[in-house]
Amino acid sequence: MSEVKHTGTKHPLASGAPEHEAVTRRRPLGVMAALPDELGDLVAAMRAEGDVRTVAHGQRDYHVGTVHGAPCVVTLARIGKVAAAATVSALIHVFDIDAVVFTGVAGGVGRDVQIGDIVVAHTLMQHDLDASPLFPRFEVPLLGISRFAADATLAARLAAACEDFVEREGRALATRFSTAPPRVHRGLVISGDQFIASAAAVNALRAALPDALAVEMEGAAIAQVCYEYGVPCAIVRTISDTADVHAPASFSTFLVEIAGTYSSGILRRFLQARG
Ligand code: ADE
Repeated sequence: MSEVKHTGTKHPLASGAPEHEAVTRRRPLGVMAALPDELGDLVAAMRAEGDVRTVAHGQRDYHVGTVHGAPCVVTLARIGKVAAAATVSALIHVFDIDAVVFTGVAGGVGRDVQIGDIVVAHTLMQHDLDASPLFPRFEVPLLGISRFAADATLAARLAAACEDFVEREGRALATRFSTAPPRVHRGLVISGDQFIASAAAVNALRAALPDALAVEMEGAAIAQVCYEYGVPCAIVRTISDTADVHAPASFSTFLVEIAGTYSSGILRRFLQARG
């Protein structure tokens, strides 16, 4: 339940302003990550820039304010497809966002996708969805879709922010964290309610979905909800591990030491350009 009362037919949480004022106000961008480290300095940057209204709703905190010049609602989904779907639904229906960007880490699945690389989703699908033989494997029953497209314009802007980040900061990051110079990839991101952490599991994903670049646990759920409500979305993932037996350790280290630097650098560029 929200801590702020819903009094009218339109939910007032998004602006706190009378409806006639809200009409002229720009609708905010929803910015999500699963875990705090994956958001980088975004909430701190919002606080530094001006007033932040934090609204508790459905056991999550939604921070409403301006970051790098762009009106945003920033929140954490927590882990998994249900958590992500519930959170993005609230962003759409309670906070009236006009688009969604999700940032975080993922396991590398594509053969040339390395730790420290960035993947911007072109399409997303649920690798663990299987209602066969009633429906084709991976297809969302009754929707007739297995692959959801990210919004092309939003994804292109996100990719441009990533390219600029890599160009300006990639070499220093690679030296600091002993990784290869990062590269930006665009393509298929797959999601499921499993942390993939064995050669057998990642090879099974490669065999089933040869064009998959990265695996994570939220993106396709967000893309499906956004598709159903006609809201543009884009998803960016930094590769924290290669989904093999080393994944738990690699993920944990990357999350704590590096993920925030990527998210902060990418989102700052993206939001400044959006303005
Ligand atoms: N997120 C980061 N690494 C992951 C992995 N190996 N499996 C699923 N989600 C992830």
